[in-house]
Amino acid sequence: MDWGMANRMHRMFLPVSGNTVMLAVDHGYFMGPTHRLEDARATITPLLPHADALALTRGILRRAVDPTTATPIVLRVSGGATVLQEDLSHEAITTSMHDAVRLNVNAVAMSVFVGAPHEHDSLVHLADLVNEGEDHGLPVMAITAVGKELEKRDARYLALACRVSAEIGAHLVKTYYCEGFSKVVEGCPVPLVVAGGPKLDSDEAALRLARSAIDEGAHGIDMGRNIWQSDHPVAMLKALRSIVHEKATVREALDVLAQEKAQPARPARAAPA
Ligand code: R5P
Repeated sequence: MDWGMANRMHRMFLPVSGNTVMLAVDHGYFMGPTHRLEDARATITPLLPHADALALTRGILRRAVDPTTATPIVLRVSGGATVLQEDLSHEAITTSMHDAVRLNVNAVAMSVFVGAPHEHDSLVHLADLVNEGEDHGLPVMAITAVGKELEKRDARYLALACRVSAEIGAHLVKTYYCEGFSKVVEGCPVPLVVAGGPKLDSDEAALRLARSAIDEGAHGIDMGRNIWQSDHPVAMLKALRSIVHEKATVREALDVLAQEKAQPARPARAAPA
């Protein structure tokens, strides 16, 4: 791996654990003003100091994140369909590599829709993006998207989607946790991070998901709704960090959550326009 590519990969994964806690706030690109992400700056600002990387689109990066941030940015560069369509797989590359470089991002990310009507297009777009990423030393994260078919998230399907993404050249893959997740890890030669999916019944359920994912070989999380739709987002992010980086058990992470909840809330710092 070339030095620039290797350096950008290492910036996202902390040496202490080899893992990452990415904060995902890219949902608006197809869901619009998602619950508790309506004002992206207000959601992101208090969480950013506790994230190892921030995953979002260029529109929200430019409007909602202070350019003084040192947090590595993972830029979503695919889009083109919204929740108003039945088939979400009709995506293209919507942000150029040139703009990604101009924004000084650390990596680019796109959805791949294996088994969906536009499977072919998304895989070819991934190949093209990897070619450009290699040219510029920018890692590409493939996101194994299932659109509205959440029931697709089983080990057999995800193992196939992750392996195909890695074969095409993705440098890391974001996928879902599932029963038999170790099989997904076993078949994927690049680091895997897991999304949280829709908000679970409790903060504890999300902590359990993260603990199981790490135990079974994930290199971290790229989580959104289970953090910022929690009533205690900063506490939740810190509790997740204890799992991902400090080998905390779910019980210990719940203690972190309880301690952090007891802290008085600090107002988010106003950032320049
Ligand atoms: C889809 O909107 C994105 O790829 C999200 O970044 C991904 O699903 C992670 O967010 P969440 O944990 O909310 O599923």
